[in-house]
Amino acid sequence: MANVNDSLIINGKKIKNRITMAPTVKFDFAGEDGKVTEKHISHYTERAEGGVGLICVEATAVTPEGRFAKNHMGLWDESQTEGHRAITDACHKNDVVVIIQLNHTGITGNPMFGTPVGPSSVPTRDGKMSKEMSRDEIHAMQESFISAAVRAKEAGYDGIQLHGCHGYLINQFVSPKTNLRTDEYGMNKALFGKEIIQGIRKKCGSDFIISVRTPGAEPDVQHAVDVAREYVEAGCDYLQVSHGIDSFQVKLKGESEPYSDLCALGVNFKAVSGLKVPVSCVGGLLTPELIKYIVEKDLADTVDLARGMLADPQLPNATLDGSSYVKCFECKACQYGPGTGHSCPAEHKRKNI
Ligand SMILES: Cc1cc2nc3c(=O)[nH]c(=O)nc-3n(C[C@H](O)[C@H](O)[C@H](O)COP(=O)(O)O)c2cc1C
Repeated sequence: MANVNDSLIINGKKIKNRITMAPTVKFDFAGEDGKVTEKHISHYTERAEGGVGLICVEATAVTPEGRFAKNHMGLWDESQTEGHRAITDACHKNDVVVIIQLNHTGITGNPMFGTPVGPSSVPTRDGKMSKEMSRDEIHAMQESFISAAVRAKEAGYDGIQLHGCHGYLINQFVSPKTNLRTDEYGMNKALFGKEIIQGIRKKCGSDFIISVRTPGAEPDVQHAVDVAREYVEAGCDYLQVSHGIDSFQVKLKGESEPYSDLCALGVNFKAVSGLKVPVSCVGGLLTPELIKYIVEKDLADTVDLARGMLADPQLPNATLDGSSYVKCFECKACQYGPGTGHSCPAEHKRKNI
């Protein structure tokens, strides 16, 4: 039986326990230049001090057009690299392994940045059609991911995570709904991500962690596992499992299980994939009891906390040593998006504001 306090090695790096912080974009923290701000630094420093073993810094854009909105962090330019040093230093000072999630919105792109691009021409969120990427555009996009990873390494990150979930570009290549291509990028739906992994491995070296956030079913479990297997063969060291475009068509959770349908995607993936890299799950892991349940029953190698750690960075310590914490209210305030000014009521309670 594993214990939350047990360490874990991922590509030679020791993660001090089984608790990880999931990528959670902080709307409105960045300016239009996409650079790290003091808000990011204090946010991640506070979380690095809360006992967590690994932090995956939020979805970070690899091109300006791939941002969620204007005030979204990026790593598409050299000038954005240095600001990340303060985040990586704060993590390392607290013995926390830190990686950063790299993303492009693709078809779900914000129309303010022009016509969204993707594997195929399909309807976009404003009812128009996306532009199908040419082969040259695909290769240029892959280079943008690879260059961003190189900048991440320069900034002191222990690795990167490719955002292969939640309907964004890498996920769009995997889903038969959004990838209608008949060339090699359509025949092999893992190829786009796989070539990015190979490029990053070549440029960033053998000891750099390459993680992928990958769907637990897309559209079914077998296709998701087949894709992830290609990622692992290409050099991926760590899979964080979440949902894709069609994941919830497949019901995986037993009725008596205390965890969520989302979490069940990761639990099932760990049980059936047979892949020889650590696998995490995420979704509604908001209490020490549930976090320990997952780890102690060996349902996942690491547990990924998002809202629980936005509400209180001390949730990992509370899980490890029984100390107190403020539980997430599940109010969705953190999810309202850019420009809405919503803030976390649990944080208000914690800070007495
Ligand atoms: C405010 C907020 C921002 C998020 N940003 C990201 C992100 O940048 N990248 C990502 O892969 N998932 C993102 N997610 C999804 C979370 O990582 C996580 O998968 C989801 O919230 C479920 O976990 P939870 O129940 O612990 O919150 C975000 C979620 C929230 C609430």
